[in-house]
Amino acid sequence: NASGRKLPLQVLVAAPRGFCAGVDRAIEIVEKAIERYGAPVYVRHEIVHNRFVVEGLKQKGAIFVEELDEVPDGVPVVFSAHGVPKAVPAEAEQRGLDYLDATCPLVSKVHRQAERQIEKGRHILFIGHEGHPEVIGTMGQVEPGEMTLVETLEDVEKLPFTQDDALGFLTQTTLSVDDTADIVEALRVRYPQIVGPKAEDICYATSNRQAAVKEIAPGADLVLVIGAPNSSNSVRLVEVAERCGTDAKLIQRAENIDPAWLEGVGTLGLTAGASAPELLVREVLDKLSEWREVELLKVKTAEEKMVFKLPRQLMD
Ligand code: F3S
Repeated sequence: NASGRKLPLQVLVAAPRGFCAGVDRAIEIVEKAIERYGAPVYVRHEIVHNRFVVEGLKQKGAIFVEELDEVPDGVPVVFSAHGVPKAVPAEAEQRGLDYLDATCPLVSKVHRQAERQIEKGRHILFIGHEGHPEVIGTMGQVEPGEMTLVETLEDVEKLPFTQDDALGFLTQTTLSVDDTADIVEALRVRYPQIVGPKAEDICYATSNRQAAVKEIAPGADLVLVIGAPNSSNSVRLVEVAERCGTDAKLIQRAENIDPAWLEGVGTLGLTAGASAPELLVREVLDKLSEWREVELLKVKTAEEKMVFKLPRQLMD
C-alpha cells in the first residue's frame, strides 16, 4: 500500500496436511525402482495426483503412461497409489513385465474386502466417484455385474435390490466423511441386512485432513487448499471448508493465487491434500509474505505416525 507497510494477515495452517503414508510410499517406490533398475522406469498413471511430484520424478527418469500397452517389453513398471483392476497385473505377468505395485495398502485392504464379500455370495454396493482411478481399480477386483457404484443419496433410492438380497458395501478411501455417513445410513435403512465395515473405508489421512479443516475454516475469511483438481481428497477439503460457510479455493501452486482474493481477508486458512508436497505450502507462505505481514498459527488436530512398508522387491 501507499505507506509501504504491509497489512497483517493471520494464516491458520492446518495439521495434519499434505503427504500421507500411502503417497510417501508410492513416491519412494518410484525413486527406489529408478535407483535399483536404472532409468527409465515406467509408471502407469500419475503415481499420485500432483503435477509437481510427477514432473520431479520425470526429471529422475520416470516415464508416465496411461496403459500397459505403452510400456515396452523388458522394463519395470510401477502401478500408481490408487490401485489397478486385476486385469492389469495379470496382463503384466502375461507379458513377463517386472512390476512394482505402489497401490496404497489401505486401498489394497478394500480390494481384499471386496473379494471376501464376493466369496460370501454378496452383491457389493460401492460408494465412490465414477471415473476416479481408485474406483476403476476397486471395481476391477470383481467380475462385471458383481459391484454397483453408488455416488449419491439419490442413487440409493434408485437401487433395484430388495431386503432379501445378500448385500455388502465398501467405500472409496478419499470421500467426504459426512456425505459418506449419510449414504451409509440410507443404505442401512433401505437394506437392514447389508454387511459392511464398521464405519466406512475412508482412510485416516482423509478423515484427519477434513477434521483439521473443520477446525480452521470457521475462523477464517478464506481457505486455500493446495491440491490438484483430479485429487479426490483435495477437492473434498474445499467442500468441507465451504460447508463451514467459508469461501475456499483449490490451488496447485502459489502462482495460482489471485491477490484480489485476499482483499478484506484478515484470517486465511491453509491446508494441502494428501498428494501435495510440503514444499508447495512453503511456496504459498512465501508468496503471501510478499504481499502481507504474515502471522503464522499452526492448528493441529491429530498426530500421524503411519508408515507403510515398501514392496518386498525393494527392501534391502
Ligand atoms: Fe492411502 Fe489414504 Fe493416502 S488411502 S494413499 S493413506 S489418502
